[in-house]
Amino acid sequence: MNIITDPQELQQQCLAWRRQGLRTGLVPTMGYLHDGHMALMRHARTLCDRLVTSIFLNPAQFGPGEDLDKYPHDPEGDRAKAEACGTDLLFMPKPSAMYAPDHATWIDVPDLGRHLCGARRPGHFRGVCTVVNKLFMLAQPEVAVFGRKDWQQLAILQRMVRDLNIPVTMVGHDIVREDDGLALSSRNAYLTPTERAAAPAIRQGLVKLAEMLHKGERDPEVAKRFLRDEFAATLPMGKIDYIELVDPDDITPVGAVTGPVLAAVAVGMGKARLIDNILIEV
Ligand code: PAJ
Repeated sequence: MNIITDPQELQQQCLAWRRQGLRTGLVPTMGYLHDGHMALMRHARTLCDRLVTSIFLNPAQFGPGEDLDKYPHDPEGDRAKAEACGTDLLFMPKPSAMYAPDHATWIDVPDLGRHLCGARRPGHFRGVCTVVNKLFMLAQPEVAVFGRKDWQQLAILQRMVRDLNIPVTMVGHDIVREDDGLALSSRNAYLTPTERAAAPAIRQGLVKLAEMLHKGERDPEVAKRFLRDEFAATLPMGKIDYIELVDPDDITPVGAVTGPVLAAVAVGMGKARLIDNILIEV
C-alpha cells in the first residue's frame, strides 16, 4: 500500500491509472477506522482495479464547539486496517494541503439539508460536499462507496453528483452494527461503559417504530411520540436531538406515511452524539 499526503501527487497517480484504463474506487473517511469503514473498503475493492481510501479530518464540516479537536485518531491502526481491506493508496493530507488560506469555493445542496443533521449542524454538509468534491477531482474515481448510517449525507452527495454531472457511480452500503445493534461509529469511543451499555436502545426503538408502521400506524406524530416515550424509558441519559420521519430521497418530513419512509434519530449521550436510521417500506 502506497501512502500519499500531497494532493497533487494523488491526482497524478490517479490520472495515470485512468490513462491505463484502470477503474479507481474511492472510500472517503475521517479515520479511526472501524468495521463499518472496513466493510466499505472491502466492498469498494470488488468494484474497482485500484482502491483509494482517504483519511482526512475535514475541518470545514465541523462547527464551533463541535468535536474537531477531540476526534479520536489512530494513524498506525488505520494504516493496517486500510491495507488489510485492499487499499492500494492511502491518502492522508494535512488540512493546509487541502485548503489554501484564501480558499473561497463551496458546494452546497441546501434544499436537502433543511432537516435532520443539516438543521442541527449549520454549514456541516457544505463542508462535506466541498471536501468530497475535492476528493473526486483528485482521485478521479469511477465508483465511490458511502455508508447509509449517514443517510442524509449520502442523499446530498448523490444529488450533488447528479446535478453537477460528476462522472462517478455512487454506491451506498448498509449500516454495520455491533452484535447488540449499536451502529458502529468512531464517536462510540466517547461513550462511558454505562452509556455504551444503554446505547443499543437507539436501534431497538427504531425497530419497534418500524413494527408500529408495519402494523398500520400512518401518523408520523404518533410514531415520533412513541419513540420519544420509548427513549425516555430505555435511554434516560440520552438527550434527543431529533426524531424525524422523512422522505428517503429529499429528506423532508412526511405528513402521513404513504410509502417508504426513513426514520432518523440523533441522540446526545454524554460527550457523544449518535445518529441512526431505519428505512421502513410500508
Ligand atoms: P466518517 O464518519 O469517517 O465515515 C466515512 C464513511 O463510513 C461514510 O460513508 C460513513 O457513512 C461510513 N460509515 C460510518 N459508520 C458506518 C457504519 N456503522 N456502517 C456503514 N458505514 C459507515 O462520513 C464521513 O466520515 C465524512 O463526512 C466524509 C464523507 C469522509 C467527508 O469528510
